[in-house]
Amino acid sequence: MDFQDQRVLVTGATAGIGREAAKLFADRGAFVIVSGRDPGRGAGTVSAIEAAGGRAQFIAADLRDVASVRQLGDQAGEVDVLINNAAILNAHTTLEQDLESFGVMFDVDVRAPFFLAAAVLPGMIARGSGVIVNISSMAASVGVPQAPVVAATKAAIESFTRSWSAAFGTNGIRVNTVAPGPTLTDGAVAMLGEGAAQLGMATPLGRSARPSEIAEAILFVASPQASYLSGATLAVDGGFTAI
Ligand SMILES: NC(=O)c1ccc[n+]([C@@H]2O[C@H](COP(=O)([O-])OP(=O)(O)OC[C@H]3O[C@@H](n4cnc5c(N)ncnc54)[C@H](OP(=O)(O)O)[C@@H]3O)[C@@H](O)[C@H]2O)c1
Repeated sequence: MDFQDQRVLVTGATAGIGREAAKLFADRGAFVIVSGRDPGRGAGTVSAIEAAGGRAQFIAADLRDVASVRQLGDQAGEVDVLINNAAILNAHTTLEQDLESFGVMFDVDVRAPFFLAAAVLPGMIARGSGVIVNISSMAASVGVPQAPVVAATKAAIESFTRSWSAAFGTNGIRVNTVAPGPTLTDGAVAMLGEGAAQLGMATPLGRSARPSEIAEAILFVASPQASYLSGATLAVDGGFTAI
């Protein structure tokens, strides 16, 4: 898989799945724009990429703020591949959900990827090529009593994939979703502790994913090897949604 000299923007690349994807894109020759809020963690991803001989730049953005989303789109310049990965992992039942965090989840997980795509799409259209990969979750496809708002945000982003695929296919732009299952990332382990590993036991493969296993699927979907794939959702969930 060759991303030589492609400019790849990965949101949420300061940790977890996004960090692993950023490193893999750089390994395959891409110039990676690493985004997130935390400059220290951003520098960590960039240093890891540069230590391995790759090229990367950190751009800070707080995706709760739509002005920051648009600024990221401007500062990133030409983007060949956009990975809409950043999201808030937050679990509240319907009876416990407060209004404020409901809004923040929709701001970060739905509004931000929408307006970031809107910022980079004109350049892709002008060049007649581009790739967008939206990261959703197995939660988009099943009932999730512990986190119905997360599930709804992920269903929304899968819907964007279908709409953008239909809207921009004739411009040479492919748009797909990768839907991870339980994955042992910084965020999941911080929130769920041992539960992050236990969740994986409910999958047919009987374990949670390593972040690199999701990142490899993101790379495939973004790659020229997936040149006829558009509007699709690739479940990378150990078989969870097949049962
Ligand atoms: N882990 C799982 O089990 C799992 C399962 C299904 C789907 N997913 C999906 O996979 C994706 C990655 O998840 P993960 O587990 O790797 O997450 P993670 O380890 O919690 O990392 C989240 C990333 O998002 C960034 N982020 C969070 N809030 C942000 C904000 N307001 N503005 C900008 N960046 C922000 C964080 O960066 P800063 O802190 O630097 O801002 C961080 O880089 C998400 O879309 C998630 O929903 C994960």
